[in-house]
Amino acid sequence: MRFSFQLYPVILVLLHLRALASAQNVPVNHFTWNGSEYSCKCYQGDTCWPSPHEWKSLNASVDGNLQLVVPDAAVCHDSFEGKPTYNASACEEVQANVANQQWQSDRAVANHWLFWTNATCLPTTNRNDPCTLGYLPRSVILAKKKSHIRAGINFARQSNIRLVIRNTGHDFMGRSTGYGSLAINTHSFKDAHFIKKYTGPGGYTGGAVTVGAGIQGGELLRMSNQQNPKVTVVTGECATVGFAGGFIQGGGHGPLATLHGMAADQALSFEVIAADGSYVTANADSNADLFWALKGGGPSTFAAIVSATVKTFAETPAAGVIVNINSTHTTDNEVVWKGFAAFHNLANRWVDNGMFVYYEYTPGRLHIQPFVGPNMDKAKITEVVQPLFDQLNKEAIPFSFAVKEFPTFFDLYVDLFESETAGVISIVGGRLFTKQDIEQSGDQIALGVKRTGDAGVVGHIVGPGYGAPKVDNAIHPTWRNASSFSITSVFVDPNITLTQKSEAQKNLTNNIDGPLRAASPHGAAYVNEGDLEEPNWQTTFWGSNYPRLRSLKKKWDPLGVFYARTTPGTEEWEVIDFGRKLCKKI
Ligand SMILES: Cc1cc2nc3c(=O)[nH]c(=O)nc-3n(C[C@H](O)[C@H](O)[C@H](O)COP(=O)(O)OP(=O)(O)OC[C@H]3O[C@@H](n4cnc5c(N)ncnc54)[C@H](O)[C@@H]3O)c2cc1C
Ligand SMILES: *[C@@H]1O[C@H](CO)[C@@H](O)[C@H](O)[C@H]1NC(C)=O
Ligand SMILES: *[C@@H]1O[C@H](CO)[C@@H](O)[C@H](O)[C@H]1NC(C)=O
Ligand SMILES: *[C@@H]1O[C@H](CO)[C@@H](O)[C@H](O)[C@H]1NC(C)=O
Ligand SMILES: *[C@@H]1O[C@H](CO)[C@@H](O)[C@H](O)[C@H]1NC(C)=O
Ligand SMILES: *[C@@H]1O[C@H](CO)[C@@H](O)[C@H](O)[C@H]1NC(C)=O
Ligand SMILES: *[C@@H]1O[C@H](CO)[C@@H](O)[C@H](O)[C@H]1NC(C)=O
Ligand SMILES: *[C@@H]1O[C@H](CO)[C@@H](O)[C@H](O)[C@H]1NC(C)=O
Ligand SMILES: *[C@@H]1O[C@H](CO)[C@@H](O)[C@H](O)[C@H]1NC(C)=O
Repeated sequence: MRFSFQLYPVILVLLHLRALASAQNVPVNHFTWNGSEYSCKCYQGDTCWPSPHEWKSLNASVDGNLQLVVPDAAVCHDSFEGKPTYNASACEEVQANVANQQWQSDRAVANHWLFWTNATCLPTTNRNDPCTLGYLPRSVILAKKKSHIRAGINFARQSNIRLVIRNTGHDFMGRSTGYGSLAINTHSFKDAHFIKKYTGPGGYTGGAVTVGAGIQGGELLRMSNQQNPKVTVVTGECATVGFAGGFIQGGGHGPLATLHGMAADQALSFEVIAADGSYVTANADSNADLFWALKGGGPSTFAAIVSATVKTFAETPAAGVIVNINSTHTTDNEVVWKGFAAFHNLANRWVDNGMFVYYEYTPGRLHIQPFVGPNMDKAKITEVVQPLFDQLNKEAIPFSFAVKEFPTFFDLYVDLFESETAGVISIVGGRLFTKQDIEQSGDQIALGVKRTGDAGVVGHIVGPGYGAPKVDNAIHPTWRNASSFSITSVFVDPNITLTQKSEAQKNLTNNIDGPLRAASPHGAAYVNEGDLEEPNWQTTFWGSNYPRLRSLKKKWDPLGVFYARTTPGTEEWEVIDFGRKLCKKI
């Protein structure tokens, strides 16, 4: 007895060490930072960085589709990493396309928001300016086949290097880029397959479409419109955002989300590659826990998506309204803001009628384009919007408006949704307002919007609880009570110091988002369009779903092969060394 008592703790310790070793399965890569010990992913220069031979065999396993990253704007600079890069005509092309979202989406690793690349290689007119990689990935696999994605995942896991999945580079929060990483670009997975009667698991028997990871929202709507009979899908409002990548994994709101629910509410099945490199199908019957998590649990968190199968809906006629209040109507910012308040205080009315509204508010300019009224004609949508016109007239607020009707939602989408631009250097935040908040503190919310400064808000009136969809998924349950979601931002100069960056971040979290948060005690925030420093992000992004998501992250990605900031399980990780190394405290 005595004997075993003495051995017992030793055995426990040994068992514990074994468990740790098999759970981590990677050697510790020590790094000391700010007085603490960390174990980091491997970076070039570390002894654990893969050998040239290993990189070569990775390249062979992806059929030569591995590339070293050269920033797109290197052609505007004399040299990059010691090699001459200047090319006047190529530089002109980059300069001409900085703001072009489709062009940016088609790049290998570019992020639309230069802040996340650390803005260290800008399309300058001064070719002597330095050009460095900044926070862009070190290399990228331009995946053409599932096996290429799998090879990249296996390589990153086995070599303990940071992995980034990059689809279109839209991520407002920089999650499709990462210092020193290996990126897998999924943008060429452009297959879509429409099904008239779904027969897969889950009991749903309507129309569906299997959407390849690289397909963008506008493309998907166009293909849906070409079906006979015409169908449609819940996509984002922006034509160039990917569908099956970050969008649906974050939840996905859009022009039809009030009517039908979030994109993540439409998912029927996913084809994915798991962190251990296995091909996995996730739906109601197979890997149901992963299926649940992929529906809104966070981008690049649980698996790499190859395709998503989602519900389609029959096309319907639709009507739209445009409202403007700007310098052509008044030069008094206060009057414009009062117009905004009148509009936003009616948010519950808009969603109670199944509508979605996209708008932009900055000091002196309210641009509402469009109000989307599915299944409405001109007469019907005018009747719904009339209380706004009455209120504006009552307050003597000048405005202009237009009303249009269309044979299908797609025709409305093409006509009324304007193209957006990339390239702005800013930090993004945001807030979701519930119907209860609009009712109880609409004026306070409007005051908060007034305090968003020169950047203003990009707003969406959206109520994914309107049709009371019966879906069990990972989106924040508060989405069902939502009637408005706003994106906020803080503009920054490209060349600011780290201290200035941290001040800008504080401005966003405290001065811009603070008043909006305070005005919406029942509200939440959205992981795809939110603040990386959102206080209590776990609950604010996922509410009561968070604990289950965190345990599913442990199950499906115990080693942390996938990483995107402020997604489930990432509280164990930190990006240290001035935004460079991804590490765990030990
Ligand atoms: C102009 C603009 C408009 C927007 N409009 C809307 C909108 O209407 N509604 C809405 O809900 N959101 C909208 N968004 C936000 C959008 O949903 C997110 O930026 C989303 O993450 C973009 O996904 P992506 O795959 O296109 O982009 P990326 O930047 O390439 O990827 C975004 C994230 O998804 C991960 N990811 C990409 N592909 C995969 C994959 N195959 N498997 C696993 N993870 C992957 C990436 O690693 C990254 O974490 C908008 C963004 C922009 C810039
Ligand atoms: C270093 O650690 C201290 C406290 O442990 C913290 O307050 C400070 O912000 C850290 N500095 C950096 C650069 O992370
Ligand atoms: C991968 O192989 C292709 C084709 O041989 C080659 O063009 C490319 O430069 C290689 N990539 C790297 C990083 O060596
Ligand atoms: C410069 O860029 C253009 C594309 O804009 C390309 O056609 C040309 O070959 C490049 N020139 C050199 C010397 O690389
Ligand atoms: C990022 O930019 C900051 C300046 O804002 C600079 O100090 C730092 O060296 C840069 N880091 C990298 C990896 O580019
Ligand atoms: C202002 O409103 C008018 C419509 O009255 C519109 O044509 C114009 O484009 C708007 N200007 C801005 C800057 O939004
Ligand atoms: C939604 O609103 C209802 C009624 O106001 C409330 O009872 C419920 O708790 C809310 N749900 C969430 C998740 O906020
Ligand atoms: C905070 O950011 C807003 C939006 O860009 C800006 O208008 C304001 O001047 C900033 N405030 C400070 C104190 O920097
Ligand atoms: C940063 O760039 C702006 C122009 O974008 C310039 O006016 C300013 O002087 C620059 N600041 C520094 C510190 O280089």
